[in-house]
Amino acid sequence: MLSTFVQKCVLVSTILSGCHCAKILGIIPTASYSHQITFHPLWRELAMRGHQVTVVTTDPLRNTSIPNFREVDLSEVHVYFKDVQFYETISGDIKYFWNIAFFLRKVTLDLTKLLLENSDIQKLTNETFDLVIGEAHFPSILGLIGHFRCPWIGVSSMESGIQFNVAIGNPAHPVLNPDYNLPLGNLEDLNFLERITSSVYRIGFVFLIDAYLYPSLSRVYEDAGLNTPPLIDIQNNISMLFVTTHPIFHNLRPVFPNTISIGTGMHFQQRKPLPKDLQTFLDEGEKGVIYFSLGSNINLNLLTDNFKKAIVEAFAEVPYKVLLKMDGQLNNVSKNVLVRKWMPQQDIFRHKNIKLFITQGGLQSLQEAVLNEIPLIGIPFFGDQFSNVNKMVKKGYGLKIDRTTITKNALVTAIKEVIQDPKYTETAQMMGKIFRDEEIPSLQRAVYWTEYVIRHKGAKHLRSPTVDMPAWKYYMLDVVGFLAFISLLIIVIIYLLIKVFIRLVIYIFARLFGKRKPKIKKN
Ligand SMILES: *[C@@H]1O[C@H](CO)[C@@H](O)[C@H](O)[C@H]1NC(C)=O
Ligand SMILES: *[C@@H]1O[C@H](CO)[C@@H](O)[C@H](O)[C@H]1NC(C)=O
Ligand SMILES: *[C@@H]1O[C@H](CO)[C@@H](O)[C@H](O)[C@H]1NC(C)=O
Ligand SMILES: *[C@@H]1O[C@H](CO)[C@@H](O)[C@H](O)[C@H]1NC(C)=O
Repeated sequence: MLSTFVQKCVLVSTILSGCHCAKILGIIPTASYSHQITFHPLWRELAMRGHQVTVVTTDPLRNTSIPNFREVDLSEVHVYFKDVQFYETISGDIKYFWNIAFFLRKVTLDLTKLLLENSDIQKLTNETFDLVIGEAHFPSILGLIGHFRCPWIGVSSMESGIQFNVAIGNPAHPVLNPDYNLPLGNLEDLNFLERITSSVYRIGFVFLIDAYLYPSLSRVYEDAGLNTPPLIDIQNNISMLFVTTHPIFHNLRPVFPNTISIGTGMHFQQRKPLPKDLQTFLDEGEKGVIYFSLGSNINLNLLTDNFKKAIVEAFAEVPYKVLLKMDGQLNNVSKNVLVRKWMPQQDIFRHKNIKLFITQGGLQSLQEAVLNEIPLIGIPFFGDQFSNVNKMVKKGYGLKIDRTTITKNALVTAIKEVIQDPKYTETAQMMGKIFRDEEIPSLQRAVYWTEYVIRHKGAKHLRSPTVDMPAWKYYMLDVVGFLAFISLLIIVIIYLLIKVFIRLVIYIFARLFGKRKPKIKKN
């Protein structure tokens, strides 16, 4: 077994010169399909290049024809997410933001227990790896990563949060780069209250994680008998960060060279022919077809009756056909609407009659829409969806509708505006051109930097020296304090000098002009 692997490696490395075949472990523990599909092409490509790839995933590919590839099925996290009503809770009223933060702490700890109780993962802990590629999201995986004592790369199917940006040394400026979880309005120009919110969140978040979450998390690892370095050290030991960011979807961020953007997407698939009925449905929609999908995490029971009523009635009223992706039975849909549990979204977007995509604003969906120059209506539910949709509205290729106040009329008006006013389609076309114009494909970039970390056993030379600096040094509090003190001292000295000078002048005048008393009294 091992010798055939070695043979394969030798073979492949002679074909692809420079391949240092390595044992790679991927861990993506978030039960969300979009978090998983982003990296499917990376696993496949690394395996095809001769690396021995093991992936811990909630949505296994189950493709036995990929060589050197094995998966650890973590689908129990889907069950857990359903039990704790994960998506229902995080899409709850945003006023309860801190409740959500505490809920996420509980989920992080539970998720860690699930990982450590999984017998296949327990077996993995007896193996060694040359590289771990872990999702820079729930810190649940940190102890596991640290256990292997090898370099690790953090990956995110979206923008990375404050924690891992700070870990790699990137600035996490609350005004330039507010956290993607905050439901802020114009991300490029926050108002005063939003700047306060973002700053408090920025400071509070890191403090809560370091002081409150990590100690509890360490205890979970200790209880499981896994001996790991301190979590904060593992976190800061990150070699690279792959983020799915793009100037179309995110605020620009100054980053260190060990942060690699894979933001033009790795998950796009080759064109496949549409199923016959969908092809006919789309062909016949000459006046335009709307595609409606709220992604894979939002199902019918997350929608209020008012929401369902609004969309059913609005779709009955507009003069367009509608493809509606929904997991569950919607009552009373009109004849122009076709409801399916699943649809080949990427191929549907390639059809010329698609005039509008109504979306929850997940990043992968937005990427697919922009790739195909389709304008949007965004109805955000949770997480980065608010910031994604707000950014989209700001860029001008779509409109936003609030899911809690949605009405038939609001939806009909928005649909007509986006389809009939050419500015939305024109902006979408402009965005598509920018989006498709890339130096090298994201997958190629991800593979290159993954193998770079393998070749150099980490990327210490790309690590920002500020990571090890205490915050007071990084924010120059001592320098500012010192300069403020000196400035104060100079002001006092100048004040005293002026005072002495004035007295001197008064004295001289008094002497020169005899007995007359000076007007300015000395105090
Ligand atoms: C499985 O992987 C092989 C090799 O990458 C690929 O050719 C094939 O299309 C995959 N099968 C499915 C069902 O995705
Ligand atoms: C790991 O290896 C040790 C020592 O070889 C063995 O006792 C233990 O059962 C192994 N654990 C698992 C989960 O395979
Ligand atoms: C940091 O990474 C190096 C490899 O790059 C590894 O040898 C070391 O054990 C890691 N340290 C911690 C604290 O995780
Ligand atoms: C469906 O339509 C019927 C008749 O118009 C109405 O009585 C019923 O309440 C509707 N059901 C829903 C769920 O809207």
